[in-house]
Amino acid sequence: MIYSEPKEIGKVLIKNRFVRSATYMRMAKEDGDISNELLEMYKTLAKGGVGLIITGYAYVQKSGIPFPGQLGADRDSSIPSLKKIAKTIHNNGDGCKVFLQLAHCGRQSYFVDEIVAPSAVLEPITNRMPREMTIEEIEETVNAFAEASRRAMEANFHGVQLHSAHGYLLSEFLSPHTNRRTDKYGGNMNNRVRILEEIYKKTTKLVGRDFPISIKMNADDFLEGGLKLDESKKIAEIFSKIGYASIEVSGGMWEVLMRNKKDLGWQPAMIPESRLNINTREKEAYHRTYAKEIKKLIDKPLILVGGIKSLDIIEELLTRGITDFVSLSRPLIRDPDLPNKWLKGTGENTCKCISCNGCVGAAMTGPVHCTQEK
Ligand SMILES: Cc1cc2nc3c(=O)[nH]c(=O)nc-3n(C[C@H](O)[C@H](O)[C@H](O)COP(=O)(O)O)c2cc1C
Ligand code: SF4
Repeated sequence: MIYSEPKEIGKVLIKNRFVRSATYMRMAKEDGDISNELLEMYKTLAKGGVGLIITGYAYVQKSGIPFPGQLGADRDSSIPSLKKIAKTIHNNGDGCKVFLQLAHCGRQSYFVDEIVAPSAVLEPITNRMPREMTIEEIEETVNAFAEASRRAMEANFHGVQLHSAHGYLLSEFLSPHTNRRTDKYGGNMNNRVRILEEIYKKTTKLVGRDFPISIKMNADDFLEGGLKLDESKKIAEIFSKIGYASIEVSGGMWEVLMRNKKDLGWQPAMIPESRLNINTREKEAYHRTYAKEIKKLIDKPLILVGGIKSLDIIEELLTRGITDFVSLSRPLIRDPDLPNKWLKGTGENTCKCISCNGCVGAAMTGPVHCTQEK
């Protein structure tokens, strides 16, 4: 079975094809440091058999914090805290690897006084107008991502993933809807990609070429005037050529909930990247058609995320070459031991998560947990 076979991301060997998709757990301390609760969660996850854990998003600058309880990677004093995560996973994961996800939340930052973004485009969910970043601020953000990757390397992570999906800052640069700049960082596609080229260059200067710098991106913003597959597949091709070690394919941004909720059947207060009610085989792996197109153009491993729940569908996606890895968030909140069960042949074909997003709701007030668990 391909799902049990190892495969490399860059020079890092992942023991099987199951990835824990980045999942914010609202468990870090107020200052962005690790808590015992978060360490316990990573310990359980590592023991559950997954090949690669991508941590929940860690902020690279204080100006880009979306919610409380998020990990910080914005200062050298966070390295000892980050080291504890890597050590816990090394000690408990039987070869499980760990990448730190790095983010700036741009116009979807919540708990900051002033919101910055590529352009001043109102964010309708928070109803706040961001301020357009200056060139100097963009350069500071490029440095902040590079320095945060260096910290991840010093903290013994196996790699990093840049969060360039779901309407956060880097995805806002890629999207023609949120990037209306007329300077070298906006306008045509090459200009919108520039910040990610600069981050990659700057980061490799600090961490070398053997430390995988990966990326998660939107194949489609699902928004009129937003990023669509015709461009996203070219952008993925550019990322692959630049050297990004793997590309995780996702979609959506918060604004979708206001604009498109009727036709897509989503409800308010839900996050569009985590779709509700994935209760038929047809609804599973809801970004698969995008992955198929993107896979043809890239020569780095593709990671597919979004509503992947059944082992036979996973094997089919891998066998047909639609993806190299499958990424799971809610199924592993529901049951962190799921990869072990599937690998040992003791689990049911379809996982128990019912895509109700109770866990997303839980994050509004406290630590993320499955609200369906007894
Ligand atoms: C509680 C929760 C927190 C999430 N936090 C993050 C995050 O920190 N970074 C990220 O890229 N995606 C985040 N996501 C999105 C997931 O990684 C994933 O893309 C999405 O949930 C679809 O996958 P699934 O159907 O396996 O849940 C989060 C999802 C949930 C449910
Ligand atoms: S609350 Fe539990 S069952 Fe519902 S989506 Fe979250 S993990 Fe799945």
